[in-house]
Amino acid sequence: MSHTCRIELDGKSHDFPVVEGVENELAIDISVLRDRTGYITLDDGYGNTGSCTSAITYIDGDKGILRYRGIPIEQLAAHSSFVETAWLVIWGRLPTQDELSQFSSMLTRNEMMHESLRSHFQGFPPNAHPMAILSAMINAMSCYEPEMMEIEDESTMVRAAARLISKVRTVAAASYKMSIGQPMAYPHPEYHYCENFLHMMFSIPYREYIPTPEVTRALNLFLILHADHEQNCSTSTVRMVASSRANMFASCAAGVCALWGPLHGGANVAVIEMLDFIRNSGMNVAEYVSRVKARDSRLRLMGFGHRVYKNFDPRSKILKAAADEMLETLHVNDPLLDIARELEEVALKDSYFVERKLYPNVDFYSGIILRAMGIPLNMFTVMFAMGRMPGWIANWKEIHDDPKGRIYRPRQIYTGSPLQDYTPIEKR
Ligand code: SDX
Repeated sequence: MSHTCRIELDGKSHDFPVVEGVENELAIDISVLRDRTGYITLDDGYGNTGSCTSAITYIDGDKGILRYRGIPIEQLAAHSSFVETAWLVIWGRLPTQDELSQFSSMLTRNEMMHESLRSHFQGFPPNAHPMAILSAMINAMSCYEPEMMEIEDESTMVRAAARLISKVRTVAAASYKMSIGQPMAYPHPEYHYCENFLHMMFSIPYREYIPTPEVTRALNLFLILHADHEQNCSTSTVRMVASSRANMFASCAAGVCALWGPLHGGANVAVIEMLDFIRNSGMNVAEYVSRVKARDSRLRLMGFGHRVYKNFDPRSKILKAAADEMLETLHVNDPLLDIARELEEVALKDSYFVERKLYPNVDFYSGIILRAMGIPLNMFTVMFAMGRMPGWIANWKEIHDDPKGRIYRPRQIYTGSPLQDYTPIEKR
């Protein structure tokens, strides 16, 4: 394999180095392209552009492969916990029992919000969107932890990561309680990560919610599957903000905002709304699919398609099996699951979707599981953010630990007005 790429421009040849990844992915390093040739590249949606090298997550979109630090997602889903996976994603290896126990107790020590932070919730209207609250409260949190703004050593890094991962859970549950007019539940120091979240979501005064093992397992699985996903929109946002040397909290708050969009993390809400629309409209699945194909409706099959996976998203396969198992165990019959299965069956046979390599992605079945857990629809994307927090922190850390790291500052091709003079207002 030649390790240079030659580009002919205006009769001149220019050689650029080729970079090869661990899994033989290839890239042309064009870092000096503009200095050498005066040209830049243009890549709508960055579909062909690598923004960085990273050692955290590997995806093969054609083979449907997803690995965190080299470990296949299927093995982590089967054997790991969210807290262990978070440690793996952030620090690059599986923790020893001692490291895991220490990290787990650090999460416990950091599970409560500062009491005056709780009063911030009074400033939000009851119908405030939990993603708006989450992004605001992550920055508000950092005001109470000024030492977290400048992370100069590993112990501060561990504490900052633990604070963020633990408190995001408490803030998420508190925003739900506020939205339904119930008192916020304090975290229970004896509970582990997932049980504690469910306790804070569903316990009410004098009647504690005791999560079943099935629901706790399903939540662990959901969070593991969402922990990281290479340079997706929200993670790229976190890296963009981190590249200016902004602190971890500000970078992750920006990630929450990017994740909110219905084309990204907001899709798990849009999938349920789509399934609900099909059910309530009396339309059958085939009719809905033809409307999507008609293109005049601007309708999309939410939960389908992916920029990288041009085959099955391995996470959706795992979530589909978990949804089946969970609904059976809980004896829940969710008509939306039946519609989802039918939609998948119809779409996978339809050339419109097959030609465009549109398969179910992580969001297609995740909503079914969240519904079965009793998580309200407007909290679905917050759950995604809770899961993705370790991935955002890991990417922030990669930037932070790179002494040569440059600020992200893409170029552009200008298409606006040519040079013109200022026109005084009386002459306009
Ligand atoms: C996530 O990047 C990540 O890793 C994200 C994520 C993560 O873990 O961080 O995996 C999480 O965000 C998953 C994706 C969730 N979003 C959705 O389910 C929303 C529905 N999906 C799409 O909007 C779309 O597929 C995207 C946004 C996911 C990908 O968009 P692309 O790569 O920009 O693809 P595109 O819009 O250029 O579409 C290519 C073609 C178009 O048709 P043509 O113009 O070529 O005829 O496919 C069509 C699109 O119209 N198309 C769809 C479709 N998705 C793409 N048609 C119908 N339904 C869809 N869902």
